[in-house]
Amino acid sequence: MAHGKTETLIPDAAGIARAADLLRTGQLVALPTETVYGLAGDATSNIACARIFEAKGRPRFNPLIVHLPSVGAAEAIAAIPDTARQLAAAFWPGPLTMVLPLRDGHGLSPLVTAGLDTVAIRLPAHAVMRAVLGAVGRPVAAPSANPSGRISPTTADHVRAGLDGRIAAILDGGPCNVGVESTILAPADTGTRLLREGGIPREAIEALTGPLVSDTTPGKVQAPGQLSSHYAPTTQMVLNSALDDPDAILVGFGPGTAELTLSDSGDLTEAAANLFRILHEADALAEARGATAIHVARVPHEGLGRAINDRLTRAAAPR
Ligand code: TXA
Ligand code: MG
Repeated sequence: MAHGKTETLIPDAAGIARAADLLRTGQLVALPTETVYGLAGDATSNIACARIFEAKGRPRFNPLIVHLPSVGAAEAIAAIPDTARQLAAAFWPGPLTMVLPLRDGHGLSPLVTAGLDTVAIRLPAHAVMRAVLGAVGRPVAAPSANPSGRISPTTADHVRAGLDGRIAAILDGGPCNVGVESTILAPADTGTRLLREGGIPREAIEALTGPLVSDTTPGKVQAPGQLSSHYAPTTQMVLNSALDDPDAILVGFGPGTAELTLSDSGDLTEAAANLFRILHEADALAEARGATAIHVARVPHEGLGRAINDRLTRAAAPR
């Protein structure tokens, strides 16, 4: 849907009130969260949810995450098994999403769940997002605020570059400090499945739940983040730890001579926070120089490194 002009809002009382008003009238607003910017709409409104799919060019079979301010609000729309309750106590608010059985009378648009009998729920930690959720007083659906399949946005400028003119407003809360999307779990008292690696390291979850069952096979369409090609720059991306192609834009990790780096000091938390910004920058550089490839170093496969390698692998997958 063409909107013409996309407003920029600042995260003061007036900006938060304006964002909440727009959401209550079915408009879309990009909001900051600690993971990535979300493209928010009223999760109880069919029109708002349809607009989310349209603005992103997102396939309709991909369900949306519902953002809520409290466990009490989650209880109103979903059943929460004991395992989920323990995970909520440990990691909410924060970069964790749980897929839970829907309750009767949940009031959500059927577009949110794409017809499934489960719903993905997250309680974000970002103060601005929480203020908006409080002011809206309704569940808010929010996928990442990028055109479907492209690099996720961690700044308001990234959102504008992808969605300008297609949404009512962007609330600029500065850069996102986690930088990769939430970890998605399907908790059950008989065993918890990991659907997407993300901002809470797998090891931290397993310390609480015991071994997770991985269900993140690329290509098996359960979640768009599970599509084999996703998070992709325009320029072809290659995973190459040697970074030995002088014609490519090189993105390193740790000390080295690459032009761009995920983290100079080899810190995975910093690398996660930088990941999507660096991919946006590498893509812009490649375009400016006519380079045909971006080569990126792999990072250690532990902690947040698992989510980073997951995003890099999908960004490098054949289109
Ligand atoms: O950090 C995040 O999670 C960000 C911020 C904005 O909250 N949001 C985000 O949303 O990454 P999105 O739409 O890009 O990814 C949502 C994922 C998708 O992979 C979707 O398929 C999955 O959640 N999902 C939603 N409902 C589901 C369900 N009922 N069962 C399985 N997967 C589900
Ligand atoms: Mg996304």
